[in-house]
Amino acid sequence: MKDEILILLKNNKDEFLSGEKIGEKLGVSRAAIWKYINVLKEEGYGIESIPKQGYRIVSVPDVLTYEEIKEYLSTKFVGRNICYFDTISSTNMEAKRIALKNPEGTVVISEEQAKGKGRLDRNWVSPPKKGIWMSMILKPETEPTKVAKITLLGAAAVNKALEDMGIYSKIKWPNDIVINGKKVCGILTEMSCELNMINYVIMGIGINVNMDRGDFSENLINKATSLKIEQNKEINRKELLAGILNRFEEFYIPFKEDNEISEVIEICKKNSALIGKKVRVIKDGETKTGKALDINNEGQLVVIFEDGSIENIFSGEVSVRGLEGYV
Ligand code: BTN
Repeated sequence: MKDEILILLKNNKDEFLSGEKIGEKLGVSRAAIWKYINVLKEEGYGIESIPKQGYRIVSVPDVLTYEEIKEYLSTKFVGRNICYFDTISSTNMEAKRIALKNPEGTVVISEEQAKGKGRLDRNWVSPPKKGIWMSMILKPETEPTKVAKITLLGAAAVNKALEDMGIYSKIKWPNDIVINGKKVCGILTEMSCELNMINYVIMGIGINVNMDRGDFSENLINKATSLKIEQNKEINRKELLAGILNRFEEFYIPFKEDNEISEVIEICKKNSALIGKKVRVIKDGETKTGKALDINNEGQLVVIFEDGSIENIFSGEVSVRGLEGYV
């Protein structure tokens, strides 16, 4: 009911709608409408109420609810079921908890995370309403070894959605997005599987959207940045979130149906922060230095090491660091 009232108000922005008229349209009493209007006000919607004239919406809050992003969304199933929180420990943790009970494409979003989780057991700073902290529940019918590719689909989706908004970024294979050599986004993909069957995959994406310098600790400020800092302006989180979901579904359907990721590989190669650069590859505690040559059709990083040997690096097993600045 609350959502229906909101739609009516949004569709009639320029006029006042009386409680009676809204009530008639939706088949509920004026008193009930008044109650829901108050809930909407508490959620941050600016609603002007004038006795004998009715209600008019004057402002909408900066929140990543389904109601607020759906006008930008063009997907069939990704993001069509959104579990929204003001605050939560970690969206990846919550997505894992609900994965088996919810359909593929369900997205868990929180305005804030108290215990945001990064790779290698690191903490992920997630202050309220300053970023996009979300996790997607996916159920591809493929072998567990193919799951590493999903991270690349996510990275390509973020890169393209940013480009759609005029923001140019690089992909640090396989799970970071960087701008001017600093990280703006990280992806943490986790899965639950049997020997050769996937129960579910959780792809967590964290984007530093409107964070200010003061939101980063001293040791992060040299390595991390936000879209706002780089662009010198606030970025529309709703448009960006929906754009990522739109792009992700575009890349995910061919992957799921035909194991087809050539467009994603092209994007990762064209916008690579690593190809042609010196890299340090850390595997089982051992560090080797080499140069990134390419990303192959399987989405592996091709590296030539100092001894002349060439290896295809599988993303699940290594950590790759650039040697110049953060990348
Ligand atoms: C990395 O270390 O680069 C990966 C960071 C992933 C952070 C995101 S924020 C949303 C989701 N929930 C989490 O707890 N982590 C991921």
